[in-house]
Amino acid sequence: MTKSRTRLYELSAAAYANGDYTGWFETLYAEAQGNSDAIPWADRGVNGWLIDWIETAQLNLQNLRALVVGCGLGDDAEYVAKLGAKVTAFDLSQTAIDWCHRRFPTSEVNYQAVDLFTAPTEWKVGFDLVIEIYTIQALPANIRPNAITAISNFVAPKGKLLVVCRGRDPEDACDNLPFPLTKHELTKFTDTGLTQVSFDDSIDTLDTTPARRFRIVYAR
Ligand SMILES: C[S@@+](CC[C@H](N)C(=O)[O-])C[C@H]1O[C@@H](n2cnc3c(N)ncnc32)[C@H](O)[C@@H]1O
Repeated sequence: MTKSRTRLYELSAAAYANGDYTGWFETLYAEAQGNSDAIPWADRGVNGWLIDWIETAQLNLQNLRALVVGCGLGDDAEYVAKLGAKVTAFDLSQTAIDWCHRRFPTSEVNYQAVDLFTAPTEWKVGFDLVIEIYTIQALPANIRPNAITAISNFVAPKGKLLVVCRGRDPEDACDNLPFPLTKHELTKFTDTGLTQVSFDDSIDTLDTTPARRFRIVYAR
């Protein structure tokens, strides 16, 4: 196991024991001191599933209001901005947001340190395109329904939501971060009023350990 993943397990276990399910992200980013090798998910690249979706569907993002959830170090937000969208990207970690500003000093992305669970009310139904990649799977099951509702609420009428996450069957093990999602957990998106447009279920061989990935597109 890499050093960064060992630290992630230590920090998250200590936080969970105190009933804090999200505070450890900031500690991990702060301890990294600008070294992205210390952040297990930070590969400094755009997510391949996002690129594939946009290119395959030949989406025109020009002037769309886009929101990137749990943006981390900002690569996906920058990619969508370069395609012409007006992008807001947020993460609860102030250190991650400062890091985005340092990495992309001339960026047009509106980076904000915001907690998904207390996001500004004016963001409600405010975005034509919402991108959620690997945030939900980094949250334990007890707070996921609220996370899904909060993400769903950002989607404007006729807007789209892209979700990329690890996937599992109900009987598969789910004892370590990242926690893969079941198809049943994801039905919460449609329960909150979105329509499922597509569901890809495949093995991601790009990862060092091949893992099952779900890529789902919803629309309002
Ligand atoms: C596994 S990382 C994925 C980051 C990025 N989306 C990527 O694919 O590289 C999850 C991110 O979600 C952020 N996050 C976790 N809980 C959050 C919350 N409640 N509100 C906003 N961001 C959150 C973390 O700080 C972290 O940057």
